[in-house]
Amino acid sequence: MASDITSAPETAATMPARVDPASPILLFDSGVGGLTVLQEVRKVLPDAPVIYAADTAGLPYGTKTEAQIAARVAGLLGRMTERFRPRLVCIACNTASTIALGMVRDVLEVPIVGTVPAIKPAAMLTKTGVIGLLGTQATIRQAYVDRLEHEFAADRRLLRHGAPGLVEAAEAKLRGERVDPALIRHAAEALRSQPGGDRIDTVVLACTHFPLVEDELAEAFGPGVTFVHGAAGIARQVARLTAGQEYARSSADLALFTGSGNLPSSYAARLPAYGLTRMERF
Ligand code: DGL
Repeated sequence: MASDITSAPETAATMPARVDPASPILLFDSGVGGLTVLQEVRKVLPDAPVIYAADTAGLPYGTKTEAQIAARVAGLLGRMTERFRPRLVCIACNTASTIALGMVRDVLEVPIVGTVPAIKPAAMLTKTGVIGLLGTQATIRQAYVDRLEHEFAADRRLLRHGAPGLVEAAEAKLRGERVDPALIRHAAEALRSQPGGDRIDTVVLACTHFPLVEDELAEAFGPGVTFVHGAAGIARQVARLTAGQEYARSSADLALFTGSGNLPSSYAARLPAYGLTRMERF
């Protein structure tokens, strides 16, 4: 009798392993930037248990070397996945992803979603053909970014600027502090002053911290500039890779911070808005 492989019953070997419904999605960043990705993940997967991990002891990543960043990210994610057994890890950080995504995928046996600069959508959006890219100093020098530019924006002009001041501004804003307008102005001027910079109509926010200060950036750039980043696309990818899985929260969602000492009290005031009601040191 001919067998119909499309309707053959699944065997233990072919069946996807059942995921523990309480197993969290782990989002990782150097600081609070990954919350911009978490916000989008919440929209598509409102019932998913989440652990948000910030390597605050290593912040900022953007001024570190590739070796320092790769070692921190691989080491921390190795220990975190062992301890928390996440169903998926999302590296919600462009700097960590453009440097260490391949390496982390090689060593961890858990699906990993990375965050890479949204050059492709920016290249489709621009009318003037001039795109600005704001990232960290480490991100903008990566071959990964060169490859994205070559693949998706070869016929566009991509002007890059590494803006550590914006990371500082975003962290301050999340703590409820005043954002120094000079930091924002400096980033906008650094792009505008490059040859062709006056024609920028699209800016890639290639650091997950930067959407936190998008309003301030929009004011500094003036009208006619569209900002793009990957958070919604990353969230859709997380949803695709976990499709069909069940969710059951066994405890309140946790925010982890590396380092020691008391956590700023402002975190306790702001993180519940992201569904994070427990905070711990890691
Ligand atoms: N949020 C990070 C990113 O997306 C990096 C910020 C930093 O630590 O410098 O690149």
